[in-house]
Amino acid sequence: MLKIDIHKNVALVSLNRPEIHNAFNDELVKQVTDAFIDLGKRSEVRVIVLTGSGKSFCAGADLNWMKRMVHYTYEENLEDARAIGRMYLAIAKCPKPVIARVHGAALGGGAGLVAACDIGVAIESVQFGFTEVKLGIIPAIISPFVLARVGPGRARELFITGERFLAPVAMNIGLIQHVVSHEPALDALVDSKISQIMTSAPSAIAAAKDLIFGVVTRTLENSLDFAAEAIARVRAGTEGQAGMQAFLDHQKPPWIEK
Ligand code: COA
Repeated sequence: MLKIDIHKNVALVSLNRPEIHNAFNDELVKQVTDAFIDLGKRSEVRVIVLTGSGKSFCAGADLNWMKRMVHYTYEENLEDARAIGRMYLAIAKCPKPVIARVHGAALGGGAGLVAACDIGVAIESVQFGFTEVKLGIIPAIISPFVLARVGPGRARELFITGERFLAPVAMNIGLIQHVVSHEPALDALVDSKISQIMTSAPSAIAAAKDLIFGVVTRTLENSLDFAAEAIARVRAGTEGQAGMQAFLDHQKPPWIEK
C-alpha cells in the first residue's frame, strides 16, 4: 500500500492503492505514520516527497472502510479517528522537509495530506475539494492542518459547499505554493525545491519547522522567549558555527556535497 524509495538523500513516499485513487484505510494510515516517524530519524534522508501511484495523489479516506465503522463501538471509532490524526501529525511535525507532489485528485483527507506537508506543488488540472459534506460527513481531523493553511474564513465556504476547485484556486487560498502545467514540469519544480533544500543545513531546517509550530501556539510575549531560546541554541550549535564560518571564509558549508 506504500512504496518508499530512498535515492541520493531523497525519500520518495508513494501511496500505492491506484485502483481506488490511493484512498487510505487503517492499514495505509499506519504505514504512512510509521514511515514518516522512521524517515524523520534517518540522517541520510534530507527531503521527503509524498506522491501517489496511478492517476491521483489521494482520494481521501477509503469510503468502504469509513462505512464499515457503523459496526464499531464509539470507542473503536474514536481510536480510529485518533490514528488518522497521528498520521497527519507525523507528516506535519516530521523534522525533514516534506513536499507534496500532487496530480489527478486530492480530495477530502487527500487535500488534508497536502495541507500537512511543508510545500505543495500541483499540476493545474488537479481537482481539490473538501467534499466530506457531500458524503454526509465532515473534514474533522484534517481541519487544524487546513485551517493553518487557508484560514477559517476561506475554510467556511469550502467546508460548507464541499465544492471541487482546481490547483490555481488552491494556490490562491494558500493550500499549495506552486502550480505547473504538466507532469514533467511537476518533477522539475520538485527537483528545484530539493536542490534548494540540499543547500540548507539539516538541523537548522528541523529547528525552523519546530519554530513555526512553537510560535503559533504561544502568545506574542511567550513566543519571543521561545524564539530567543531557539536561536541561542542554534547559533552556538555545530551547524550554525560551521555555516557562518564557511560564509565568512567563502567556502561551502559541510552539508553541501563538495
Ligand atoms: N474511497 C473508496 N473508493 C474510492 C474513493 C474513496 N475515497 N475514491 C474513488 N474510489 C473508487 C471508486 O469507487 C471506483 O471504484 P469502482 O471501480 O469499484 O467503482 C474507483 O475508485 C475509480 O473511481 P472513479 O470515480 O471511477 O474514477 P474517476 O477517475 O472518474 O474519478 C475521483 C476519480 C477521485 C475524482 C472520484 O473517484 C471521486 O470523486 N472520489 C471521491 C473522493 C472523495 O470525495 N473523497 C473524500 C473522502 S472523505
